[in-house]
Amino acid sequence: MAQVELVNLCKSYGDVQVVRQVSLTVDDGEFLVLVGPSGCGKSTTLRMIAGLEDITEGELRIDGQRVNEVSPKDRDIGMVFQSYALYPHMTVFENVAFGLTLRKVPAEEIEVRVRAVAEALGLQDLLNRKPGELSGGQRQRVAMGRAIAREPRIFLFDEPLSNLDAALRVQMRGELLALHQRVGTTMVYVTHDQVEAMTLATRIAILDGGILQQIGTPQEVYRRPANRFVAGFIGSPAMNFLDGRVSGAGDSLVFEGSHDLQVPLGHMTETKAAPGPASLGIRPHDLVRGDGPLEGHVEVVEALGWEAFAHVRVNDLLLVARLEGDEAARLTRGDRLRLRFDPARAHLFDSEGRAVVGQATSP
Ligand SMILES: Nc1ncnc2c1ncn2[C@@H]1O[C@H](COP(=O)(O)OP(=O)(O)OP(=O)(O)O)[C@@H](O)[C@H]1O
Ligand SMILES: [Mg+2]
Repeated sequence: MAQVELVNLCKSYGDVQVVRQVSLTVDDGEFLVLVGPSGCGKSTTLRMIAGLEDITEGELRIDGQRVNEVSPKDRDIGMVFQSYALYPHMTVFENVAFGLTLRKVPAEEIEVRVRAVAEALGLQDLLNRKPGELSGGQRQRVAMGRAIAREPRIFLFDEPLSNLDAALRVQMRGELLALHQRVGTTMVYVTHDQVEAMTLATRIAILDGGILQQIGTPQEVYRRPANRFVAGFIGSPAMNFLDGRVSGAGDSLVFEGSHDLQVPLGHMTETKAAPGPASLGIRPHDLVRGDGPLEGHVEVVEALGWEAFAHVRVNDLLLVARLEGDEAARLTRGDRLRLRFDPARAHLFDSEGRAVVGQATSP
């Protein structure tokens, strides 16, 4: 087991900086998920931890020791990629045993360790098959088994589930959680899927443009996003944003949006809210039918059965609101809908996009 520290980690390709001064600590035994949009630097960060990519600037420490110059094979890291290349001519047993055979572990010990891993991952009955005779999910489990059998002190995963269908992804997510609870090894997991991030992580680190935006527990980043980017990235459907300005002072601070929208911010006076341009964020789950300040026409209803999301046109804004499944069944395009929300659950951002409400946990 191990602690991993990234200290002002930077990566440039020529003049292009793709990872900018990322500092964070992955605690011993933690399941840290790195999440962010395509191209934000997730894989590059992971590959620097693995030693597959040179570190341009900054320091990487494992258990307090600088490892920038340590070769990948000496970092004692197990890695599983999206494209988990298995050896097609080898059986499942030989694939799982591969790292151990390479290290000349005695045959009896290999036998014991491979059987234990196979049992943990439900591969007992497949040990004599070749990868070509397995389903996608089974192959992914073999790739994981190969990393686990070596008993590394850190696991790195780069979108390991993205080739699987939705049902298998959910199943493998559960298996990964169980695996982490059983082995307790430090894990760093990259995904662009925020549901995967929320369900797996002990903490989530959100990257955008190579910059760490926020790190916190799933609940923290959902409840107290540090900025507008995180607020819009975490949560599904995405948060609604209304542009406007803050006016007044003290207890009478008000957010004024377009079309006479006035939202009192009295409950937010503990914060740094100050008069000037601002935006208000309301999650679709907090925007419901009722006697409130917003009214518009239904454009689309996305019904899921147990709940539904209505896209409501309020002048030039398209807002997403949550409805009960049954309530939604009676709505059609063009219906008028009045919406309410609890101002205490709204998020306020300044003109730079920084959260000015709540105790946002910044990096
Ligand atoms: N060898 C390279 N040379 C130049 N630029 C590169 C190289 N490898 C990656 N990049 C750039 O670095 C940025 C970060 O890439 P990275 O692979 O880390 O993104 P990512 O967050 O993993 O994205 P995805 O979700 O699409 O996998 C991208 O803009 C990419 O084009
Ligand atoms: Mg990637």
